Amino acid sequence: MMKLHDLEFKPFIKAEEIEKTVARLVGEIAEDLKDEVPVFVGILNGSFMFVSDFVKAYPKPCEVTFIKLASYEGVKSTDDIQRLIGLTQDLTGRTVVVLEDIIDSGKTLAEVHRIFKNERVKALKIATLFYKPEAYKKDFKLHYVGIEIPTKFIVGYGLDYNGLGRDLPEVYQLKTTQHMTNLVLFGPPGAGKGTQAEFLKEKYNLVHISTGDVFRYNIKNETALGMLAKSFMDKGQLVPDHVTIDMLNAEVEKNTDANGFIFDGFPRTNAQAEALDKLMEEKDSQIDGMIALEVDDEVLVKRLLERGKTSGRTDDADENIIRNRITEYYKKTAILKEFYSAQDKFYGVDGVGSIEEITQRLSKVIDAL
Ligand code: IMP
Ligand code: MG
Repeated sequence: MMKLHDLEFKPFIKAEEIEKTVARLVGEIAEDLKDEVPVFVGILNGSFMFVSDFVKAYPKPCEVTFIKLASYEGVKSTDDIQRLIGLTQDLTGRTVVVLEDIIDSGKTLAEVHRIFKNERVKALKIATLFYKPEAYKKDFKLHYVGIEIPTKFIVGYGLDYNGLGRDLPEVYQLKTTQHMTNLVLFGPPGAGKGTQAEFLKEKYNLVHISTGDVFRYNIKNETALGMLAKSFMDKGQLVPDHVTIDMLNAEVEKNTDANGFIFDGFPRTNAQAEALDKLMEEKDSQIDGMIALEVDDEVLVKRLLERGKTSGRTDDADENIIRNRITEYYKKTAILKEFYSAQDKFYGVDGVGSIEEITQRLSKVIDAL
């Protein structure tokens, strides 16, 4: 995640992919132009980085020059006209390749064609590193296209948002969804996680995703993912993370109008926590906090033994089994506590007290996220 001025951006195209694309464009153009000495014309400011990397990789002699898009006030001061300026070289008889950083609506490209109309160039070719096909409104031919991207605002590798971001070696995309609050809820058996999740879900309009419930639902309804999960369980194997993540993804997709999610029972490993971060990022969102309800072991044992008496749950009847489950919980969650602490997202909340007291403590944490 990255903030420029008032907007948030997320990683979109890595430096290596840009490098590969530039190399491909260089290859295509060099092959087409054979032994001609082309004039590469960059459109400033955005294309400076692309042009620089492009000509460094160009295997044969070439010339490089730049023109710049400048705003003029039109006849009426309200219409802002963009003009290309700075073409001073005589290009008669030359093969010109315009290197654009990005083609969006094609307005700039129309201006390129306008200024070259009276130049007696031998050929005018257009190359663009990024191209937004759905936004493109003109029908000038694009001879060389690097990467097609959706109609979303990007920054980096020469492209800016209000002056910032041009220096970044990779490309970021504007985050567009509204802010969600996504929590990972933890707590040892008997900490009151289920009860608190019910309250939080109401209070913040969150969707409670309990992995156990999601599994049972998918298996009971024999969904494709449910059957897949079951095939592993029947063999006594753990369900692979990608299957679990696909199920969670389906739950998230079903609830696109939610203010956020409470993940319960997931993640359990570092790999799962990373997978969850990735899933959230794909939704232009993030995990905001991992909240762990903290309750002293002796209190838990007492609570669970009480619950065992009334609920008849056999795993709540034996003190040794209870203590083992608690020990297991701490063993397993220690890594996750580290994972989220490293991101400054771990919040321990005292889970001893009345239900309302604990809800209040949780709310204080959530309100401050
Ligand atoms: P067009 O004239 O609409 O094709 O847009 C081309 C110009 O708009 C580029 O030279 C950029 O200056 C700017 N532009 C279009 N899309 C983006 C973007 O996603 N990020 C940054 N600048 C953009
Ligand atoms: Mg440009």
